[in-house]
Amino acid sequence: MSTVFEAFFPSERANSSYDINYEGLYEQGYRGIIYDIDNTLVEHGADADGRSVELFKKLMNMGFSVCLLSNNKRERVKRFYDGLAGNDVNMSRIYYIYDAKKPSRRNYRLAMKLMHTKKATTCFIGDQLFTDVYGANRTGIKSLLVKPINKKEEIQIVLKRKLERQVLKFYRRERWMRLRQSNIVLIGFMGSGKTSVGTELARHMGFGYIDTDELIEEQEEMSIKEIFAEKGEQYFRNLETKTLKVLLRTSKKNVICTGGGTPLREENYKLIKNLGYVIYLKASPETIIERLKDDNTRPLLQRPDREKAVKELLDQRKRVYQRLSYMTVDTDGKSIEKIIDEIEKDI
Ligand code: S3P
Repeated sequence: MSTVFEAFFPSERANSSYDINYEGLYEQGYRGIIYDIDNTLVEHGADADGRSVELFKKLMNMGFSVCLLSNNKRERVKRFYDGLAGNDVNMSRIYYIYDAKKPSRRNYRLAMKLMHTKKATTCFIGDQLFTDVYGANRTGIKSLLVKPINKKEEIQIVLKRKLERQVLKFYRRERWMRLRQSNIVLIGFMGSGKTSVGTELARHMGFGYIDTDELIEEQEEMSIKEIFAEKGEQYFRNLETKTLKVLLRTSKKNVICTGGGTPLREENYKLIKNLGYVIYLKASPETIIERLKDDNTRPLLQRPDREKAVKELLDQRKRVYQRLSYMTVDTDGKSIEKIIDEIEKDI
């Protein structure tokens, strides 16, 4: 299905520029980021602040090039740029273009020239559909729409936002239709709530529910604990990969819960990515320890120093979870209903 509004649809949406999976973008081959400034990185007209300085330092360390692309005046854009420079950000790969006349394509192209990137390796991040996203789409580069930092805006922007909301309604409907043909995959540490959230989410969406651990247990006619004890962890990990391969061929319209260690094998990481929309259920070590205090079914945690094991394993794994997922949901202190509500709002 296509609509007249498609030209304004962002490739992806995020809550904020500070909430984007930059590691994931780098991994996908992106090397240049074009940013809008006002309401995307800081409030309208504001100087670079602590978190924007940190973000730019991180992007520079990762190896990105960045170009600020603003329809605002030279003074405003240069002031933001100078704010970064004054805070020890390495500016050798940061550029700026003012009075950019977005959505005109000209300056998106100039930005790529400055950064030495191509359409396929550049993405745009901004808060407005009709200038930012439309311009990026016309140029043929990936567009990421973020929510404006400040909700209070000038009257002409308020009117534009009303129109934006209409377009976004179509966008969400189309994305929803696409998602309904695919799977939702839940990843996260043991005890992060994958099973309880997964069963309820499946019910809400009218999807089936699949648990890879359960499939393995059924197939082997043994519990995970027995498989670990009698055949060893490697044997179990091979079964995880085999199960994902089968699901990739056969599963549609299911909520799929994976084991906490499944995404760590590189082959599995790729299989999960292709399986559907990946959601990371995040929980703090304290929550996990509390939730699993009476559990004896997880072989990796049957040790006297369980707290230390949880902390260490989580530390090793959290970056992989973060990188693989399209959405992260904090589950600490939240009811299942609240978690489902957050997922459905953002999906
Ligand atoms: C494991 C997590 C478990 C299970 C196995 C190994 C892990 O699944 O696959 O015990 O390595 O974290 P849950 O995350 O569903 O507990």
